[in-house]
Amino acid sequence: MTKSKKTLSILAFAQVFSHCLAAAVATAGSTPCGRLKRPNIPGANVISIHSQHLPNASVLASPPLLNSNFTGLDICNVDLVLSHHGAKDEVKVKIWLPSTGWNGRFLGTGGSGYAAGFFELSLAPVVALGYAAASTDAGLSGDPYSPAAWALDSKGNVNKDLLLNFASRSVHDMAVAGKAIATEYYGKRPHHSYWSGCSTGGRQGLVAAQMYPEDFDGVVAGAPAIDWARYVVAEQWPQVVMREEGTYISQCVLEAFTNASIAACDSLDGLTDGIISDVRACKFDPHALVGSSVNCPGKEEVVTEEAASVVAKILAGPKGLEISHPYALNPGAALDSLSNTTIVDGTRVGLPFFVNDAWIKYFIKRNPLFDTSTIGYSAFQAIFNQSQQEYGKIIGSYDPDLSGFKTAGGKAIVWHGLADQLIFPADTVDYHQKVEKVIGNSSTLAGFYRTFLASGVDHCGAGPTPGAVPVDPLEEVVAWVEQGKSPDVLEARKVKPDGTIVARDICAFPLTSRYRSGDVTLASSYVCSSQTQ
Ligand SMILES: *[C@@H]1O[C@H](CO)[C@@H](O)[C@H](O)[C@H]1NC(C)=O
Ligand SMILES: *[C@@H]1O[C@H](CO)[C@@H](O)[C@H](O)[C@H]1NC(C)=O
Ligand SMILES: *[C@@H]1O[C@H](CO)[C@@H](O)[C@H](O)[C@H]1NC(C)=O
Ligand SMILES: *[C@@H]1O[C@H](CO)[C@@H](O)[C@H](O)[C@H]1NC(C)=O
Ligand SMILES: *[C@@H]1O[C@H](CO)[C@@H](O)[C@H](O)[C@H]1NC(C)=O
Ligand SMILES: *[C@@H]1O[C@H](CO)[C@@H](O)[C@H](O)[C@H]1NC(C)=O
Repeated sequence: MTKSKKTLSILAFAQVFSHCLAAAVATAGSTPCGRLKRPNIPGANVISIHSQHLPNASVLASPPLLNSNFTGLDICNVDLVLSHHGAKDEVKVKIWLPSTGWNGRFLGTGGSGYAAGFFELSLAPVVALGYAAASTDAGLSGDPYSPAAWALDSKGNVNKDLLLNFASRSVHDMAVAGKAIATEYYGKRPHHSYWSGCSTGGRQGLVAAQMYPEDFDGVVAGAPAIDWARYVVAEQWPQVVMREEGTYISQCVLEAFTNASIAACDSLDGLTDGIISDVRACKFDPHALVGSSVNCPGKEEVVTEEAASVVAKILAGPKGLEISHPYALNPGAALDSLSNTTIVDGTRVGLPFFVNDAWIKYFIKRNPLFDTSTIGYSAFQAIFNQSQQEYGKIIGSYDPDLSGFKTAGGKAIVWHGLADQLIFPADTVDYHQKVEKVIGNSSTLAGFYRTFLASGVDHCGAGPTPGAVPVDPLEEVVAWVEQGKSPDVLEARKVKPDGTIVARDICAFPLTSRYRSGDVTLASSYVCSSQTQ
């Protein structure tokens, strides 16, 4: 051994030793990372546990899931594999515990699309803030884009055990496991537990509040994929309309319709800034564009009567006996995700969004080769109904009875971008109203459950839309739970392409933001108002 290596190893030993000493002094009853025991998870066997102190872990950026690098993380890494009684599943749970600077809290993190979680990509940013945190794959493949690897068993039947894991069971198991491991490691229970997620992650947080109301004291649910069994089928609607009407529209013309809807309704909130705040007051007629010429790549396209009719039907959403409220995007949302098209052999054809395409193929038709472009109006109604009948109870995540969560003292911040191009904000509003009906009193509801609709913000605030995105709703739910500071508004921010920072306060539904006077980039220039025009 060379001298420098020896010095290094002595240094490392001294570091580890002093760390152990400090930990032992600080928390009698704690357990060294390497000696943590398998937690008891009702309904499941923990097949294995591996725990290891990682004094200098790094997680590299992996956009869009993680946008910056995290280095120098000093953590206890715990990997569990568990299996449910009677199910042939193998569920991975990863728990990260900060070695120093634990803030006393446990945090569950969620997934997106068909993934239940992203392990270190979700854990790094919150562990850096001092949370003990967990992530699970629910026993699935981890591929957010496709359930192909797990949806069907070898006989071609839907794998109900794995669907249940994805829907709800894995969230609860992770909370039980994460809290038990944190308690053993630190020698004391987390004083509070939280959930933070968007899209599928938002759904997972709300399903916990519905089914396991004691798991989390505070829940942040962004753009929640609730009402899954219905809204996912409704995401197919734009493709159904284009198919049935025989008119597939180019991305460029779709964008022209989105732009025209913004132009038509932008000023209703008192300010012309490319953002629609008051979608309820917005009346946009796509037919106003007929005959106008759009400057598209390579050529001018003239908007046809047929295209305008198709867009009007898409914006109205599907109607039918089993369809209780609009499943449709707001004016101002980009149309080219759900209504996307492409050219194949010189002909424009539909390009369905992967979530609805895969749901219908695997879970409704149980046939990976099923071609969703064949679905017309009447097949759509049958599929919408079948999806809800077969899967509503399993993965609907739409139970409006949050009285258990309220009784447990839970608080929920739900937020949704009004220009979400994938998940319908109208569904989040409908759920809010259903929860209010069960609770029976809007001020009682506001005591534990608030919805914030972010103007001009796309799905999970990840894209280029101009609206201000919530800055730190997790911190706001923590302040609500631990200090009783109820969030009247959510602090939001957007950095414009020119570097200007726009600050806004997002109003609690049903209020909407209106421009009052003054500097348009300051939150104080706006008020929350119940007025619609
Ligand atoms: C921690 O890891 C980084 C690389 O991510 C390395 O540059 C650094 O030297 C390491 N620090 C220690 C104390 O080992
Ligand atoms: C993260 O680190 C990698 C490797 O060190 C580097 O190439 C990359 O530019 C960094 N990314 C960001 C977003 O800082
Ligand atoms: C829509 O508006 C955006 C932003 O102003 C602009 O960049 C884009 O070219 C417009 N698209 C069409 C098709 O007019
Ligand atoms: C729409 O489809 C095109 C392929 O024609 C693809 O490149 C593009 O990313 C899709 N747009 C969206 C928003 O999904
Ligand atoms: C939906 O399905 C249920 C159960 O199969 C059936 O009773 C009901 O009539 C269906 N609704 C429609 C509109 O087809
Ligand atoms: C709702 O509850 C609040 C206090 O909890 C009470 O003051 C108010 O009268 C109730 N409103 C209705 C409509 O019952």
